[in-house]
Amino acid sequence: MGKFYEGNISEVILDKVDIVNLISGYVQLKRTGNNYKGLCPFHNEKTPSFVVSEDKQLYHCFGCGASGNAIGFLMNIENLDFLDTIEFLAEKSGIDLSQYESKKNSSNNSVSYNDKKDSYEILRNAAIFYYKNLKKNTVAKEYLKSRNITDEIIKTFGLGFAEDEWSSLIKHFNSKNLAALEKAGLILPNKQKNGFYDRFRNRIIFPIINVQGKVIGFGGRVIDDSLPKYLNSPETLAFNKSKTLYGLNIAKNNLPSTKRILVVEGYMDVIALNMYGIKNVVATLGTSLTKDHGKLLSRYADEIIVSYDGDSAGQKAAFRSIEVLKGIKSKVKILTLKNGYDPDDYLKKYGKNRFLELLENAKPSIEFVFSVYKNSYDIETEDGRIDYINSCIDYLAKYDNEVVRNIYIEYLSVEVSINLDIIKNELNKKMKLVDRNYNSDDNFVIKSSISKLVRKTKASKNINISRTRKIEIRMLEYSLQDKKYLNKIFDFNEVEKIFNKNIKKIMFSLKEYYKVLSSFDLANAIDYFDLEDLKGLEKVIKNMVPISDDDKHLSKLLRQHLKICLDIEISQNKSELIETIKKISNNSDDNLSKIELNKTKEVLNERIKELNKKLSKITGEI
Ligand code: UTP
Ligand code: MN
Repeated sequence: MGKFYEGNISEVILDKVDIVNLISGYVQLKRTGNNYKGLCPFHNEKTPSFVVSEDKQLYHCFGCGASGNAIGFLMNIENLDFLDTIEFLAEKSGIDLSQYESKKNSSNNSVSYNDKKDSYEILRNAAIFYYKNLKKNTVAKEYLKSRNITDEIIKTFGLGFAEDEWSSLIKHFNSKNLAALEKAGLILPNKQKNGFYDRFRNRIIFPIINVQGKVIGFGGRVIDDSLPKYLNSPETLAFNKSKTLYGLNIAKNNLPSTKRILVVEGYMDVIALNMYGIKNVVATLGTSLTKDHGKLLSRYADEIIVSYDGDSAGQKAAFRSIEVLKGIKSKVKILTLKNGYDPDDYLKKYGKNRFLELLENAKPSIEFVFSVYKNSYDIETEDGRIDYINSCIDYLAKYDNEVVRNIYIEYLSVEVSINLDIIKNELNKKMKLVDRNYNSDDNFVIKSSISKLVRKTKASKNINISRTRKIEIRMLEYSLQDKKYLNKIFDFNEVEKIFNKNIKKIMFSLKEYYKVLSSFDLANAIDYFDLEDLKGLEKVIKNMVPISDDDKHLSKLLRQHLKICLDIEISQNKSELIETIKKISNNSDDNLSKIELNKTKEVLNERIKELNKKLSKITGEI
């Protein structure tokens, strides 16, 4: 029976492990202020944007977005799963895990370590068993031969065979430990529930091996026309389809200098491509591509090419994976094959060179999307052309990355021979419609301080919170763009009045930054800002709408901000005035305090007059 650890084991581990110490084993860290920084181990970079916070015991990369605690770091860098990581760290820091074993056999927040270890052992053993079976079985060997599969490939992929029997695997394991065999997904209980039978029978076996080289499951193909054609291991402790890619264990060690990985649909496609010497290929396991697949791929690949059948189902699938893969750091391209062909068929029919040509000409995802739009309109007609261009612009408007947008504005402009600026203008208009608000889910942006102020003030109805937030973020964006804009904001004395504590703090740090460096860069900023502020800055930069180099707009922005501040100050004074007037009428007997109150009243009135004067001057200028 496996061991189970209570849910709080991570805390125990994190308490003992020092993240700076741990990461120093992988990255050369340099102390800067409260943090440490170094070159990110998760992506290629020349200037450090990888920060480790000793206080918070967290890491964060401002280049690729990788972040987490010590456990997450180790899982990522060593490709370990959670349980292996816990074990490793426990051993390293002298924690006796047996202390934390739960008495219960299972509970929602406990995990079984040994069950998983048992499964790995059983799966490895089963793979060897199937492999040896294949050597003995002529029919199976004939089938593979008919598909041109060589002995070398059989060995590389560890292909095997499950005999046409109900319990050959069970017998191989001497009918012992059936529960563990079931957990590993290899056997199933019979209808009477008084025994088990082998899951894989009369099938060619494809062991599924993860990047650590562990067998985690199997695929099985029939050698005749019976159905289903393929059978896969169920999801088990060891096997998670949406996080596994067939062939990645081989592909990761055979990457070309372009660091490109081809994603195909079938086991046999991976194998066929390998036979032609194309080894940087993986397959999903009878599921569509997931975000987790994308993350896994982007650990190894700078470029991901997903191959699809040219029919309309293939096109839809391609669209879906483009959506799914959006946001990962690798480039995504689409390779479209002729109707009805998979890479295996295509290679057989047209040969390696034609396939490599297709690979070289794979379309970047946006171009692919454009070409689908193009095919769905009649671009010979004016209406069709307009619809086509509009669809493309709509699609581009959703892209955060300005570089990408610019490349495709140009592409589109050439493609439809329309002036670049016209397309740019249209895109800018559309981008204003696309909601690019900053308040999403982070607490970086205003909220707290402003809403407190709003609650205190009777002027609440006059202040538009989200508008104020947008203005203040825009002020920050200007400051990031150029030192002169920051100085202008300071000269205008608007920094002091910024409602959002975080933005205000950042503006002051930014001033310090500009004393040393002349232009802003996140990588350099690491020395000048707290981790939290850096995260906020990263978000702002990511969402930043391009700034035209024109300080007229900034002046307008500052006047708008000043107007908001004046509005608030006026209403605060007004409510104070109302209180004072109330007191005067209530205290009609006490002459002394009446004099005092009347004095206050006068001061307030004066102040309001003054503020209103300022306000009307400002309003006139807006
Ligand atoms: P295909 O039906 O396209 O098979 O399924 P294939 O890869 O071309 O295989 P061959 O050439 O006929 O031998 C593609 C993938 O979909 C999953 C498998 O992972 C398969 O490799 N699949 C397919 C299943 O899981 N079950 C099935 O019954 C069929
Ligand atoms: Mn096929």
